[in-house]
Amino acid sequence: MSEATPAILQQTNGTAASEAERDGDLGFLWDFWYPALRSTEIVGERLATAMLLEVPLVLGRTSDGKAFAMRDSCPHRGIPLSYGRFDGKTVECSYHGWRFDACSGQCVEIPSLTSQDKLRVDRIFAGHYPCEEHDGYVWVYMHAPGSRLGETVPAAPKLATFSAKYKITHLACDLPAHVDHGIIGLMDPAHGPFVHQSWFWRSRGSIHEKQKQFEPIPNGFRMSPHSPSSNSLPYQLLKKRTGEPVTTTIDFILPNRRLEEIRSGKLWFTSQTTVTPVRRDLCRIDFVAAWNLFFLPVAIFRAFGKTFLRQDQETMIQQAEGLKHNPHLMLIDDADRPAKWYFALKANLLESRRTGVEVAHPMSGPVTLRWRS
Ligand code: FES
Ligand SMILES: [Fe+2]
Repeated sequence: MSEATPAILQQTNGTAASEAERDGDLGFLWDFWYPALRSTEIVGERLATAMLLEVPLVLGRTSDGKAFAMRDSCPHRGIPLSYGRFDGKTVECSYHGWRFDACSGQCVEIPSLTSQDKLRVDRIFAGHYPCEEHDGYVWVYMHAPGSRLGETVPAAPKLATFSAKYKITHLACDLPAHVDHGIIGLMDPAHGPFVHQSWFWRSRGSIHEKQKQFEPIPNGFRMSPHSPSSNSLPYQLLKKRTGEPVTTTIDFILPNRRLEEIRSGKLWFTSQTTVTPVRRDLCRIDFVAAWNLFFLPVAIFRAFGKTFLRQDQETMIQQAEGLKHNPHLMLIDDADRPAKWYFALKANLLESRRTGVEVAHPMSGPVTLRWRS
């Protein structure tokens, strides 16, 4: 192990974990957007629930169509607000009927107050979070508990698209692991030939040496534009179709996004994979892909995508069995270098937030990594 060895890989016994938890440090990155739900999970004026970074949320959409996210806990006695009623504008708690503006969380009514009472109702707020809908997801900006929301909240992430017409599809799967394991699994190049063996993609026997260029980008790193491995059928099809070279660019950006862009002439395919912390022992992969390769039917693509995700999920279920016993873990060069960058980026960001110094990037320039997969 090297430089910025993260706590999650240092745990050699139960102590480290319990100390970290006692400090309230669950290894989550606050002050970022996370996908809480698919847009389709909010139906009409019904309230929906989700959990992000161990924060229970109640979500809905106002009668003007604006999505909102509140902490699913009444500030009076803590009963989940999701048991209450929503009228398209305010959420009414099921216990004593306090009502809150859904978008601001501001209390608008306490039914038990009399004309004698001086309590300033408008000074009471239910926890609430900035909320936006893009690409079929309800995104929630998770600011740290007890912190005030900054003046400027960046825009929620958006999937890149390059033509007016395109197909889009979503897949998701739960992983019974800390988000860090989900993320390093996502960027791990060496498991492919073992976990993702399949006739249409590749076999274990196709393992060969690879060399890829990486470069630093703000809050992340990029696998520089390159021609994808020629042993994959989909890429071969694409090249045949356009007669132009195929290039792939893959970015990882904190806190949790892997973006892939494949282009060949006018044809394009983009995808975004996020790994979102739900609880300390559970994360979720959300995958969205869009393309204008109209010869690629959504159903076929989904079948392949599901197979891939299931293979990763099964592996992580097995890994979780082993992680219960807090084994000592390793990151090796070069195959685990992206994982090392991830941990370093994360550590440096936290350090910068604590001290106010500029975020140091673990890469000083382009780097070539070599591995066999
Ligand atoms: S607990 Fe919500 S109004 Fe009392
Ligand atoms: Fe995988």
